[in-house]
Amino acid sequence: MFRDVSSCNTYDYGDALYWDARYIQEGGSFDWYQRYSDLRPFIRNYIPPQSRILMVGCGNAVMSEDMVKDGYEEIVNIDISSVAIEMMRRKYEYIPQLKYLQMDVRDMSFFPDESFNGVIDKGTLDSLMCGTDAPISASQMLAEVCRLLKPGGTYMLITYGDPTVRMPHLSKPVYNWKITLYNIPRPGFHKPEGSTSSRKSFLEPIPLTDKGLLPADWVLEDPDSHYIYVCKKINNTDVDDVL
Ligand SMILES: C[S@@+](CC[C@H](N)C(=O)[O-])C[C@H]1O[C@@H](n2cnc3c(N)ncnc32)[C@H](O)[C@@H]1O
Repeated sequence: MFRDVSSCNTYDYGDALYWDARYIQEGGSFDWYQRYSDLRPFIRNYIPPQSRILMVGCGNAVMSEDMVKDGYEEIVNIDISSVAIEMMRRKYEYIPQLKYLQMDVRDMSFFPDESFNGVIDKGTLDSLMCGTDAPISASQMLAEVCRLLKPGGTYMLITYGDPTVRMPHLSKPVYNWKITLYNIPRPGFHKPEGSTSSRKSFLEPIPLTDKGLLPADWVLEDPDSHYIYVCKKINNTDVDDVL
């Protein structure tokens, strides 16, 4: 059930036509990487239920529905695929907390600056990184995400990309994000017998190096695990954020 987009060369994940065709063919619903139940501790910790949330590249995932069931009050979902958006709009027309709009995450000029308290991205930056002009697309998307966040708001990126490939994009000074990193195993992953990992809990952030990388002796229990980058837009009036 949980596929990843590491097979960039096989599919054009950055292309709207690819996604339209896929959603026409597959229908139904599908959550990439992780379900809300596994992400809940992180989302609840950083993005309170009263927040106005933007779900970028929502696809046909059940994630937003699960969040509303858990008390979230307003989630605006966007996707470049008009097929996905039409399907989801029809499916959820009875849930007023959910809105669906067809939009390219690289140009969200429809929304004014500082419109959202939280932006959630599960697999969408990953898709752009598989497309043509990936670094330009990533910069456009992240600049838009930063523009749309209120000061003190959070961009939460759930990705297969480790810090060597994601930090160069996320840590640009222009965004001025305070970044905290977590790593969680794939759903259903079991530690190999005899594993000597001393990791206490996946809820603990990873202590990054000065360069924003994993410590040299960091051991991933699941080599195909997922990363959660919590990027908090620094609020210059908040002393804790500046220190
Ligand atoms: C890997 S899927 C993830 C879907 C969903 N977030 C999930 O977790 O199941 C990536 C999604 O990003 C969307 N997407 C790709 N490029 C996009 C763009 N430029 N703007 C908005 N959405 C995009 C695709 O249509 C697809 O639905």
